[in-house]
Amino acid sequence: ERTPTGCPVSQRAADFDPFENGYQQDPPEYVRWAREQEPIFWSPKLNYWVVTRYDDIKAIFRDNITFSPAIALEKITPTGDEANAVLASYGFALNRTLVNEDEPAHMPRRRALMHSFIPEELKHHEPMVRELAREYVDRFIDDGRADLVDQMLWEIPLTVALHFLGVPEEDMDTLRKYSIAHTVNTWGRPKPEEQVAVAHAVGNFWQYAGKVLDKMRENPEGGGWMQYGLRRQRELPEVVTDSYLHSMMMAGIVAAHETTANATANAMKLLLQHPDVWREVCEDPSLIPNAVEECLRHNGSVAAWRRIVTADAQVGGVDLPAGSKLLIVTSSANHDEGHFADADLFDIRRDNASDHLTFGYGSHQCMGKNLARMEMQIFLEEFARRLPHMRLAPQQFSYVPNTSFRGPEHLWVEWDPKHNPERTQP
Ligand code: HEM
Repeated sequence: ERTPTGCPVSQRAADFDPFENGYQQDPPEYVRWAREQEPIFWSPKLNYWVVTRYDDIKAIFRDNITFSPAIALEKITPTGDEANAVLASYGFALNRTLVNEDEPAHMPRRRALMHSFIPEELKHHEPMVRELAREYVDRFIDDGRADLVDQMLWEIPLTVALHFLGVPEEDMDTLRKYSIAHTVNTWGRPKPEEQVAVAHAVGNFWQYAGKVLDKMRENPEGGGWMQYGLRRQRELPEVVTDSYLHSMMMAGIVAAHETTANATANAMKLLLQHPDVWREVCEDPSLIPNAVEECLRHNGSVAAWRRIVTADAQVGGVDLPAGSKLLIVTSSANHDEGHFADADLFDIRRDNASDHLTFGYGSHQCMGKNLARMEMQIFLEEFARRLPHMRLAPQQFSYVPNTSFRGPEHLWVEWDPKHNPERTQP
């Protein structure tokens, strides 16, 4: 087998399959060989070039004209006719939002919509996050055992995402199903028979998003980011378009919800796998902000992102012809020895932990990063204060097979409720 530029494909490149368990369990480990020996390789199974080193990935992020984000939300596995017909029957038309918008449209829109993310605006959400975290922990603190994902980490970031966007709180369970379907539809490899069910869920999600937006149009004075967008649309109709608003109403829920839920689950898993580190964090919660960064670096919730090459280019000495699709494995960049000393070591005092690329980099860097950080810090603070004695229960971790969004589907922990600090020192 040969690459599109005519070079032979190595055996490991030919075998690379991001829908396989090896990648799911530990993406940076799965591509260690590439990071060390063949940092940019062609994947015949995916029809993408795969980029694994820190400097190469940063260079790609830096130039969003040559390396366009237009395919960031494109289905990585093209669906069959039947699924496409189902999607069409719902009028599904997810299009450009921000994350997949090219210049010159992107920057004016990003600027027009930035206000809701400034620190003073984000402060308004903090008491709600704290209160939710306390309430959810109250529900299971006397049980001695919990699945942190099912019993807390999935729902709170969803609630926060809905509040942030300005959506009413109803239909949580339906939304949960829909948003997972969107992940599989966009970044997964559903089998032909699954594709149709996924398409129905995505179609319903799309229509639901449209209905919510219509409701918001009737009362655009609400405090959410979507209402803010509707108000901006009045001044800048060609910047904040209807297509943008409907697409963001759907994509925004996933952007704010799954990423943060998964990031917290990954972080707690990592911390509890290092009980000495967890003890230190519990004894000195001022370590939490940098611990969150190190968790995002070591075991982030977005494992890889995408770009398409718009003009013949070279990265790391490899020719990438115009039209090439790139899978940029940010989780691998985060374990690159060339940028992070002793990169596999989990070190919550690492001074460049926040150089990680889990939020992307450059003109499209995650707008919600400080909201996500705030949520993660509050969750860790509440766990450290109220459940410092928790430990991981024996279990196998499972992941939804896809290239990009990554977190354990369940995270079982256990503790002795007799030793709950609020009983022993009320
Ligand atoms: C963009 C990751 C949470 C909103 C992105 C990108 C990544 C990412 C990888 C693309 C960056 C690029 O192309 O350079 C994450 C992770 C999160 C998280 C790992 C949680 C730990 C959130 C939250 C929101 C949000 C809570 C809130 C609404 C956005 C938006 C963009 C974006 C609007 C598009 C920015 C643009 O293209 O200009 N995020 N995200 N994200 N994220 Fe997040």
